[in-house]
Amino acid sequence: MNAEAVQAAHRFDVERAGIDAAGSRVVLVLAAVSILFLIVGSVFGVIASFKLHMPDWLADYAVTTFGRARTIHLNFVAYGWLSVAGISIVLWILPRIFHTPLRHPIMAYIGGVLWAVGVACGGVAIGAGWSDGLEWLEIPWQIDLVLALGGLLMAWSAVSTALHRNVHHIYVSGWYFLAGLVWFPMLFFIANLPGLHLGVQQATMNWWFAHNVLGLWLTPLGVGTAYYLIPKIIGKPVFSYSVSLLGFWGLALFYSQVGIHHLIGGPVPTWVVTLSVVHSVMMFIPVIAVAINQHVTVAQNIWAFKQSMALRFVWIGALMYTAASFQGSLEALRSVNSVTHFTHYTVGHAHLGAYAFVSVVLFGAFYYMMPHLTGKRWPWPRLISLHFWLTVTGFAIYFLALTVGGFFQGIELLDPDVAFSDITRHIVPYLEGRSLGGTMMTLGHIIFGMHFFALLLAKRSGSAGTV
Ligand code: HEM
Repeated sequence: MNAEAVQAAHRFDVERAGIDAAGSRVVLVLAAVSILFLIVGSVFGVIASFKLHMPDWLADYAVTTFGRARTIHLNFVAYGWLSVAGISIVLWILPRIFHTPLRHPIMAYIGGVLWAVGVACGGVAIGAGWSDGLEWLEIPWQIDLVLALGGLLMAWSAVSTALHRNVHHIYVSGWYFLAGLVWFPMLFFIANLPGLHLGVQQATMNWWFAHNVLGLWLTPLGVGTAYYLIPKIIGKPVFSYSVSLLGFWGLALFYSQVGIHHLIGGPVPTWVVTLSVVHSVMMFIPVIAVAINQHVTVAQNIWAFKQSMALRFVWIGALMYTAASFQGSLEALRSVNSVTHFTHYTVGHAHLGAYAFVSVVLFGAFYYMMPHLTGKRWPWPRLISLHFWLTVTGFAIYFLALTVGGFFQGIELLDPDVAFSDITRHIVPYLEGRSLGGTMMTLGHIIFGMHFFALLLAKRSGSAGTV
């Protein structure tokens, strides 16, 4: 691109050019659907959490037994909330960075409906006791066919927009989104093929899939979104474009083998586990690269963090990406893993990644996107602040309870002189702490949902009124 074309690209005003219009309806519908899954999924999370210290509560209904409630929770938040919210953000950002209206919005719309129906049916199937029986892959493969078709239609709309883009250059968010749209279908297809993987190989494939959902699907969605919004809200470019290259290729190179650290101590060839531990530690490289880029950009413009609620969510989420990744790399070391494995510590880590990083970035993205997409202001800005503090405080309680409780649980499990029944009693106060934190987070989600639907029903205000 010559210098003139680069300048023209920078001067391009996506809002004046009406780039959002073609995809606005599908983006809004996906956003609304994702929030419904967030609320229902969180309620099942709260039920599962209470069941661990109040096992007699709701004991007469199969659907609210721990095994089913936990599984519905996980599938709804992973495939209903994070994936659908992420795709809605992708379908909003990609046309903007490519200066091209969304292609085939109807396809994306039908795809979104199929995906949502698939996840909902998956939840009903799990509630009724019909499941494929593998963690993160519980939705029966027959229903997965509906999800695959829905995902294909949505991805096609995004990829087609990329292929018909009006700019030569692909901004860093585009690399992450497009890579995620290639990686996730491959993972989903290979992992869901019925009868292909058996025994130890099945367990290996299971954790290869489950961890890659986080690293090669949810992480690109979260990091790509933060890469778009941080400079957008601040109004300045990211700290270093070359460092973002290192972050992206480091993720592409190292992440795919990370998941087998879940099988440390299991009947898996030692070299497979060792390879995974090495890859897990190598992840420090891309994570530090992303951290330098995103955190330095915000730290140099801290005024924006104070002024913008959306940036507050996005940056806290980006900070939690650094924290979750550092913690994950250390947790993969055999010495640490021998204590934390099979304890609640791991669940704390999972929420640091899936909740404090990805979900919080997505909350910020919705707060920024909605006024731009609808031309309406958020009706009650104080509710955004309330949601923020419920998220931060609720999560802090949740995470500390499980991290401290899980660590002591691990130490006691390694001590042959401590009876197992004593360990289950010692952990109860920490589990109660998790229920308190989780209930606060869920309250925040309900407030967020009500505010979202109130904005949809509000009258147009004429100006975006960015928060
Ligand atoms: C968007 C919000 C949330 C996301 C993305 C999320 C994500 C996850 C993930 C990935 C797991 C699997 C953890 C593992 O196997 O290590 C999980 C399990 C769980 N989550 Fe959440 N979660 C969210 C909100 C909540 C809330 C609000 C609660 C309420 C207390 C909660 C309670 C639980 C429980 C009890 C489990 C099962 C843990 C176990 O097996 O011991 N989650 N969640």
